Parts: sequence; C-alpha cells; structure tokens
Amino acid sequence: MANHPIKIILDTDPGGDDSFAFLWLQSLAKQGFAEIVAVTAVDGNVHAKDTFVGSCKLLQLGGFSDIEVGRGVIGGSNSEDVEDAGAIHGADGMGNLSHTLPEAQQSYEAARFSDEILIEKLQSTPGEITIVAIGPLTNLAAAEQKSPGVLNLAKEIVIMGGAFLHYGNITPEAEFNIAYDPEAAKLVFDTCKHLVVMPLDVTHQLIFTPEMAAQISAVNPASPIAQFVTALCQFMVGTAMAYRETGGQAGFLVHDAATLAYLFYPETLRFRHAQVEIETQGIWTRGKTLLDRRHGVQSSANAWVALEVDARNLLAVMIEDLKLLIQNGIER
Ligand code: BDR
Ligand code: CA
Repeated sequence: MANHPIKIILDTDPGGDDSFAFLWLQSLAKQGFAEIVAVTAVDGNVHAKDTFVGSCKLLQLGGFSDIEVGRGVIGGSNSEDVEDAGAIHGADGMGNLSHTLPEAQQSYEAARFSDEILIEKLQSTPGEITIVAIGPLTNLAAAEQKSPGVLNLAKEIVIMGGAFLHYGNITPEAEFNIAYDPEAAKLVFDTCKHLVVMPLDVTHQLIFTPEMAAQISAVNPASPIAQFVTALCQFMVGTAMAYRETGGQAGFLVHDAATLAYLFYPETLRFRHAQVEIETQGIWTRGKTLLDRRHGVQSSANAWVALEVDARNLLAVMIEDLKLLIQNGIER
C-alpha cells in the first residue's frame, strides 16, 4: 500500500479508451496508489447524459460505486463543426455494451454539475488534487469562469489532448478533445501555468490489441470486467481499423491511458517544456495546438508536453495492472 495515494478527479467522456483508462485507474486505486476523489463526466465522445451514465456504470463494475459522478456542463463553446465521436466509440460511447454493465446507481437529473464538484473539491483541499482530464476541457473552463483562479488550486492538471508534430484526428490539424471545445481549451491553457499534456504525438503509438485483451481476460475469464474488456476491445478495433488509425495493425489507440502512465510510470515518457497556444480562429486549423519549436529561452512555458513514449513498456504496465483488477482477492 502506497503511503500517499495521488488524489485524483477524473474528468472523462467514456469513450472506449476512456473506459480502459478508467479501469486502470480503479486498479491503481485498489492497489493503494491512487484515491479517486470524484469523477466529473464531460460532454464529448457522446452526449453528457451518456458519459454520466457510462461513468457510473464503470464505477459499479470496478467496485467504486460510492464515488460521486458529476454531470457535464453543456452550452459551452462547443464547436458546431465538430461532431461527437459516437461513430468510433459506439452510440453509448462504450461499444454499445453499456447494457451489459451494472445499472447506474446515481441519477443524472439529481447529480451536481461537474464544474461545481471541481470548484468544491479544489477549494476544500488546495494543492492536493490532481485533475486527469481525458475529454474536452469544457468542465474545467466552466469552473475557472465561475471561480477565477480555481484551476491553479490543483496540484497538477494532466490532459490528453492536442497534436503538435503529428497530424490531427478530427481534422487534418486538430485533435478531438481540443477541437470539440477550442475556447475552453484556450481558457485552460491561458490560465494554468503547470499543465502536463499527452498529445497524439505519443498516443498514436499506444496500440492495444485483442491479444492484450486476451492476456488480461485469461486471468479470470468469468469476471464481468474481463468480458467487458474483451468485448470493448473487439468493438474498438473494428472502428479503429475502419478509420485507419493504426496503420493496418489490428488494435485501437488507448490515448487516454497516457495520462495515468505519466502519473504512475513516468519513465515511459519524455517531455518538452513549452508554451502551448490554442488556435481558435483558423478556418483550417481551429483547435490546433502549437508550441514554439525554435531554440530560444522558454520563459513563458505553461506546459510539459510529452513527445516521446516507450509504448511497449507503457502497454505492458497497463496490462499487468488490469490483470490485478480482475484477479480474485483484490479488495478495497
Ligand atoms: C481523444 O478523443 C477521444 O475520442 C478519445 O477518448 C480521446 O480522449 C483522442 O483524440
Ligand atoms: Ca476521452
């Protein structure tokens, strides 16, 4: 058991790859390395109601149903020209498998909004909470707008988003989480001084394969988590291949998992300290992330940007932790 588990708010829009990161986080929490303070669902891959329900179901599945889930803020500056990602993740965001998971025990209508939860938790424990943001940055921006300065009360904000030297995935230049709400992303990057960013530059190398799902499932094939991992992987591989995301390799990209690798296995990543800017105006480049690659004094850097990854070892540690989650005998 770790002495000081990292206190985490997971801001997420499940999402096939969100679901894998979500399960990995629950494994790390069961092992005593993380404490899940709350989950703030966000509108993104699918509608806010579906990401709320999906988050509740994933907590039920992993045995953390007592953790509060927030409902995503809607009505931010969501781009009208970027559709959700239901075509990749399934209409429910979870490979059309959410009906196979336990019923959500929390009500969307009665839930607090995600920005309220962020504000309350950050203000009550300043400097202690790490936000892991693996969807559009709408909730974080809404919290900052309501309560200026609140995001800088986080210990750290780790974001999956952006594409710097790599091409985009939702447009030729932009990555989905940033392009879905570029104004929110701009507000977060303009406000925060110590962001950690996992862009497509590293996440496009994280190809999770059916063989990896089989390794995990073999530990306890009857476990509902094992069955979900296998079925979700199969669905995600189908859409990833159709969208040509993996260079023809049978697998899918577990983008969001990179955030947890940084927190728990940082030796798998290499970073550049830089000032990140978000393009909100460009006709062709709206939602693009930029950094100044010239050699000069980086006096106004606001982010550590991951640009290299040891994908093999990152996936290996993720697989081992997921095995532990489904092994009998790990109790909270
Ligand atoms: C990001 O977009 C979403 O579709 C994924 O869940 C991930 O967070 C990758 O661009
Ligand atoms: Ca996501």
